[in-house]
Formats: sequence, structure tokens, C-alpha cells
Amino acid sequence: MIGYLLNLSYNNKFDFYIYKRIYSYLPKSLRPKLPKTVGIDPTTYCNLKCPPCMACKDTPGFEPCMLSLENFKIMLDKMPFLEVLLLFNWGEPFLNPQFFDMIKYTKTKGLYALTYSNFSFKKDYEFFKNIIKSGLDDLLISIDGTTQQNYEKFRKGGNLDLVFSNIKLFNKAKKELKCKRPRLYWHFTVDKFNEHEITQAKKIAKELKIKLILNHLIIYSKVNETDLEEIKRKRKYWLPKKRKYILKLNDVGPKLNYRCPNLFSLVCFDAAGYAMPCRFLTDKNDAMGNLLENSFEEIWYGQKYLSSRSLFTKNKYSKKVETVCDKCTMYKKRTNIF
Ligand SMILES: C[S@@+](CC[C@H](N)C(=O)[O-])C[C@H]1O[C@@H](n2cnc3c(N)ncnc32)[C@H](O)[C@@H]1O
Ligand code: SF4
Ligand code: SF4
Repeated sequence: MIGYLLNLSYNNKFDFYIYKRIYSYLPKSLRPKLPKTVGIDPTTYCNLKCPPCMACKDTPGFEPCMLSLENFKIMLDKMPFLEVLLLFNWGEPFLNPQFFDMIKYTKTKGLYALTYSNFSFKKDYEFFKNIIKSGLDDLLISIDGTTQQNYEKFRKGGNLDLVFSNIKLFNKAKKELKCKRPRLYWHFTVDKFNEHEITQAKKIAKELKIKLILNHLIIYSKVNETDLEEIKRKRKYWLPKKRKYILKLNDVGPKLNYRCPNLFSLVCFDAAGYAMPCRFLTDKNDAMGNLLENSFEEIWYGQKYLSSRSLFTKNKYSKKVETVCDKCTMYKKRTNIF
């Protein structure tokens, strides 16, 4: 009976009542409310090969995957409690041929939808009109530099002129369709090669009528730091000189002096449906479950999530299993000694 009930996803008030009864024995700190925001990655394929990004075949455990519209709908239908959907993670979302239909489906559910793109691809005017017609709310374009030479240090394979001409086409389409959305942003990840181009970027952004957002670069280490020397070398090569552009997540050892917020408020689903507890992970062996096989509640209140959360709460969890969070050095655990 319980097994049957656990397979229920929380679709109406009755399911909600059942779900509260089933999980009520758990301490409150281990069972946060269902999240309002999740990420679903439409694809982990990409047309660029940015060296600091995890979307590359050299990342251990990384397997490129394309999400089908059918599976996307199955996943979204299991999460009627959502308000925000992040349609990206480790790939180029617009490479998915069913991406527009995914956005449209998201909007039929009344959710806010956001995505990122490198915008470095040749498309006709109709394509940009279709982005607008899809109902997408916000679109962040990743452009890391104002000259081709420095931009392509990060954006390997990218074409800066093409990106700017696509933005102009997009703006033209928006004007023609008389639509305010999606709002467009220039997402600029600051590194050693482009930090002196920020002033120029502000000027170009003004001309293009888009808002500039500066992003901190993180040299990822698959959350644990076994290959420390390699990470140090990469950090030295990539990180900007100005301290204000360097994030604490690039320090060595436990970096942030508080509990991991991801485990209590967000899930990042990869294109194969695997539930990652944060967006830094790409290996399905680190997943907390799979939304194509499990209900959301089974994952969110499952053994792996409870074990991982218990690393950050006073409450111990009696059926503890080891997860990727045990090895993670990003946030302060109750066992960390500073
Ligand atoms: C992984 S990409 C996926 C979407 C799309 N392909 C793009 O590049 O915008 C999402 C965002 O993550 C950023 N990103 C990738 N690697 C990063 C890193 N090591 N540190 C900080 N941001 C990174 C990218 O610049 C981009 O803005
Ligand atoms: S374009 Fe985006 S997903 Fe692709 S490699 Fe670059 S940062 Fe990663
Ligand atoms: S503890 Fe680390 S691995 Fe686990 S969810 Fe948080 S950031 Fe990710």
C-alpha cells in the first residue's frame, strides 16, 4: 500500500494530504517544503567547447544526452508545485529541436521560464521570431569579451560578430511582434583575458539595449578536490587579476561558511532525468534519483537527500548513506573544523 502511495505524485489536495502523512515522521529540518524552482536541462550537447565548462567529453561521468518533449512533459507533470523553471545547465538549449515546444508547454502551466544561450549559431529571422512566440520570459546570452581574440579564450569555437548580429535580429523581431518578452541580458563571465573589456562591454550593451550582468568564473573541481595541483594551475591561468571578480568558491578547502542551500531549495535535472542536488554535477552516479522512474517526492524525501541534508543539520539520520555531498568542499558541514 505504502509503495503504491509513494508512487503518487502530488497532483491534488488528496495527494498532498497523503504525502504529508507518509513523511511526517521525519524531522522537519530534513524535509523542507517542495521547491518552487527546479532546472531541467534540454540537452547536454553543445556547439562550443569552452574549456572552463563541464559540458565537455573530458569531464568524468559526462554523457551527452538530448531530452525528448515526451520525457520533458512527463517530468514537468510530476511537479505541479513549481513556479519557476530554469531551462538550461550544461549544454546549448537551442540545439534541442523540440525546445520551443518545451517552453510553450512550460508556459501553459503558468510557470516563469528562463534560459541561457551562447547565441553563436547561424539561424534565419523566423527562428528569432519563434523564440519570442514561445513565451520565454528571460534569455541570458553568454558573451565573455568584446573582441574575438579574448572572447574565444573562453568561448572556444564561438563567433562574436555572429552573436551580435543575432542579437540585432532578435531585437528586430521583438519590435515587429511588439513583445516585451523575453527580456534579454548579456551574461559576461569575467576571466583574466577579458576583465579589461568590461567598460567596452557596458558601452556595447547600451547600444544593443540589453542589460549587462557580470558573472564570476568558477574553476570546478567536481566539488571535491582530489586533483588539487591541476585545479591550482587552472585557477592561475583563468582567474582575473582583480580580487573583486574572484569568487570565494575558488578557494581551497571548505569555502562558504554556511550550509548548502541547494539541498533545501532546488533540484537540477539533467537531460536523462537524473536529479542532481546542485548544478555543479554531471555524473549520473551522483544523482539522488531519476524523475522518469521515481516520483518527485520519492527523490526529495529519499534516503540520499535525507543523508545529504543531515550533513548540515542538527538532526542525525539513522539510515545514512554516502552521497556526493559527503566529499563536497563547497559549504560548511556540521563536521567541518575551521
Ligand atoms: C553552462 S552554460 C549553458 C548555456 C549555454 N550553453 C551558454 O553558454 O550560455 C550556462 C552558463 O554557465 C556559465 N559557465 C560555464 N562554465 C562556467 C564556469 N566555469 N564558471 C562560471 N560560469 C560558467 C556560462 O558562461 C553560461 O553563462
Ligand atoms: S556554450 Fe555553454 S554549455 Fe557550451 S561549452 Fe560553452 S558554457 Fe558550456
Ligand atoms: S553539498 Fe556540495 S555537492 Fe551537495 S548539493 Fe551542496 S554544493 Fe552540491
